[in-house]
Amino acid sequence: MNLKDHIRGVPDFPKPGILFYDISTLLRNADAWQVAMGRLAKLVRAHHPDILAGVESRGFLLAAPLALKLGCGFIMLRKRGKLPGPIVALDYDLEYGTDRIEIQADAIQPGQRAVVVDDLLATGGTMAAGIALLRKVGAEVPAAAALIELEFLKGRDRLDVPFEVLVTYDK
Ligand code: PRP
Ligand code: MG
Repeated sequence: MNLKDHIRGVPDFPKPGILFYDISTLLRNADAWQVAMGRLAKLVRAHHPDILAGVESRGFLLAAPLALKLGCGFIMLRKRGKLPGPIVALDYDLEYGTDRIEIQADAIQPGQRAVVVDDLLATGGTMAAGIALLRKVGAEVPAAAALIELEFLKGRDRLDVPFEVLVTYDK
């Protein structure tokens, strides 16, 4: 199965000139979702994770079913102000301004192997921040993974761990 057949490109979203790769069409197709999770599970399993960290919000859609498949726990890297209890935050730069992701301070046991999972790697800013945040709370991060990579944005160059991906686009 070619997963690209199930990913829809939506021109001019969210802004003119941007081609948005929409995974809604893949997720609503039971076979395509199953195949994607099976392939990603195989790649991620090789890094022997103890736990998967999903990046809000679309990362959750992949990380949670993948964690179940691998027999791992699942934790959330969330946007500002969404997690209860003590949290640890990390601010990171965007093209204009900054953003913040947060994790519960006790989400990780010292030395646990946590793989970050998101739907898509674009500039790599979000993934790099996820990796840094996990390290900040004591995790070892053996790898990162996504369904889609926008290769032309060179986000991979910002990651200092192996990056696993199923589908890449060069424009
Ligand atoms: C998108 C996408 C990744 C991130 C990739 O999330 O789901 O998380 O951007 O971009 P980057 O590599 O340039 O950092 P978005 O912030 O649109 O939010 P969502 O997942 O909640 O839809
Ligand atoms: Mg996202």
